[in-house]
Amino acid sequence: MTQADIGVYGLGTMGSALALNMASKGFTVAVTNRETDWIAPFVAEAGSLADKIIPAEDLKDFVAALKTPRVILFMIPSGAPMDAMIDTVTPLLEDGDTIIDGGNADFNDTRRRAAAMAGTGVHFVGMGVSGGEEGARNGPSMMVGGSDHSWTQLRPMVEAIAARFNDAPCVAHLGPDGAGHFVKTVHNGIEYADMQMIAEVYGLLRDGAGMGASQIGALFERWNAGRLSSFLTEITAKALQITDPETGQPMVDMIVDQAGQKGTGRWTVIEALKLGQSASSIEGAVGARAWSSEREVRRQADPIFSKNASGLDLSEDTLEQALLAGRILSHAQGFRILQAASEGFDWSLDLARTAEIWRAGCIIRSALLDDLASAFRADPPMGHLILAPDIAADLKTSLPALRQTVAAAVSAGLPVPSLSGALQWIDSLSRARGTTDLIQAQRDFFGHHGFERTDRPGKTHADWS
Ligand code: 6PG
Repeated sequence: MTQADIGVYGLGTMGSALALNMASKGFTVAVTNRETDWIAPFVAEAGSLADKIIPAEDLKDFVAALKTPRVILFMIPSGAPMDAMIDTVTPLLEDGDTIIDGGNADFNDTRRRAAAMAGTGVHFVGMGVSGGEEGARNGPSMMVGGSDHSWTQLRPMVEAIAARFNDAPCVAHLGPDGAGHFVKTVHNGIEYADMQMIAEVYGLLRDGAGMGASQIGALFERWNAGRLSSFLTEITAKALQITDPETGQPMVDMIVDQAGQKGTGRWTVIEALKLGQSASSIEGAVGARAWSSEREVRRQADPIFSKNASGLDLSEDTLEQALLAGRILSHAQGFRILQAASEGFDWSLDLARTAEIWRAGCIIRSALLDDLASAFRADPPMGHLILAPDIAADLKTSLPALRQTVAAAVSAGLPVPSLSGALQWIDSLSRARGTTDLIQAQRDFFGHHGFERTDRPGKTHADWS
């Protein structure tokens, strides 16, 4: 009997697409789903790939269909369903088998699960998968955390199905336990910031310069041919130029401006704060989505605080450069968080490799990521992108435009929380002397917290009376 190379549990959008991708690369894939009536339609849709699929309605049959040591990829909702599945499937497994959670899991859960399974003989892998349905079917970017044993099992399959950049697969074993899911979370945080900064520039052009959606879309299309080239720039250009067939209006004008989130952007911000960092460009994006949900408040506050935003005078080149600076800074913040997590959790994350596997397949793929990968390969001082010579040169060129854009937006009363957050970060980080000397004075004044003097080491106090 043919035995399967891998099992995929969960035939939702992402699970189905990954299973078909693996089958198309010649792997035999056992599949199952909690709702068993999804299985037959999936096999029917697999067409000529169906002979590489082993469907199983029963979990025991599914496990029995797998070659040992087994590899099972779970593509199910994160959280409690994953814990329940681990409890159900583990008794059916043996030493050396691997369970993979391929969802957008909270890396704290992944660490907890990996720790709970250590010593059982069954390995637990947290794997971030990016690229949406299209990516999963034709080449996603994948961020793997877990044991070397699991990586050895998985590697041929994930390398075969991954997106490729210069023929190198966009997948890597980034570290143990939660490393893969943490990197995916930060990927999503950068995704939030990038989307938000694009939306902020759209807002400046729409409300400040009075441009229509398709005109703005055409501008993004031109920008996509230059330094801003990226998947998100490309889909923005397309989305803005699509017309609603029902009304003939631009589609975007028919969409309620209220955005939700599944949590990964918020997790990035929370984890950044826990690590002693602050991802201000990502915070701006998370906040913007949260504030967008207060529609009734916004409707009532609009006439009270009305402002005339029109007549914004920013050239296309200035906005392009501003967006480039914002994109560089949000990535620099994301990588700073990764560096902090790597140190905090002892992961030895390879930041150059991380940038490399984001160059194709994932949602934040962009021309910039190739530059960032080269900057990390050249080993920037203290692992900080803003100190990498080529990136610093790019920032020196583009920062004046970001400053001009944020200043004009602030004057016009147009919100740019992500762009301004990015600017505040670089402005703070590029002051050799900041203003926390006064914060320290205040803390010592009211709380006797102590401070260090500039002229000698060691903690001291002042007599503030
Ligand atoms: C990806 C995406 C994908 C999804 C996220 C974000 O990398 O393919 O990040 O994982 O878009 O779940 O979704 P929200 O915007 O709903 O949080």
